[in-house]
Amino acid sequence: MQRTSLAESWNLDQILDDLNEFGFALVDDVYSNEYVQSLVHECTSHLAEFRAAGVQNGVVSHIRSDHILWIDGQLPIAQQHIKALEEFSQALNQAFYLGIKEVEAHFACYNAGEFYALHRDNPQQKNDRIISTVFYVHESWQEDWGGQLRLQDKNGQWHIIQPSPNRLAIFQSDLLHEVLRSKQQRLSITAWLRSGGSIWNQG
Ligand code: OGA
Ligand code: MN
Repeated sequence: MQRTSLAESWNLDQILDDLNEFGFALVDDVYSNEYVQSLVHECTSHLAEFRAAGVQNGVVSHIRSDHILWIDGQLPIAQQHIKALEEFSQALNQAFYLGIKEVEAHFACYNAGEFYALHRDNPQQKNDRIISTVFYVHESWQEDWGGQLRLQDKNGQWHIIQPSPNRLAIFQSDLLHEVLRSKQQRLSITAWLRSGGSIWNQG
């Protein structure tokens, strides 16, 4: 399975400009249809293995109700997305000296009625997450299905971002954001570009 090479399909200059100005960027039509279809298949064929994300050390959280599956070597199609993000991290390091060393990622599934309340991905800068990315995996999405990413940019401005298929949202991990209640099954890959070091605070 051949994904479109990163340099060809992403407007890197635009992404770097947007990150610099707003702390977030959107990329549409990220991958080929063939790649997206194989990713959808890999995701949906593993749904039975997804676990409640809002449970940590046996404690149930009311902050989020999605289910997740961490991505490892058993998920070769998703690994290609991580490879693309590793290449992207090098460009970010060159442009902004961010010191990104690794990418950690999980699939997420929000079923109808599920959400993720307002949060930052890097509370108190304790988990080495520098940049957050979310790639939307479902095959179609309609505006009235909810499930938008609501995000405050680095200038304090709020944005409502549709989880459009084949879209990648990229944002500083310290920005406030939430996933509004979804009315349909919503599939994604969340990946964090990290400076490496402590991995005790996953979640
Ligand atoms: C997250 C998150 C946003 C989204 O996984 O931490 O905020 O749009 N996801 O799925
Ligand atoms: Mn988040």
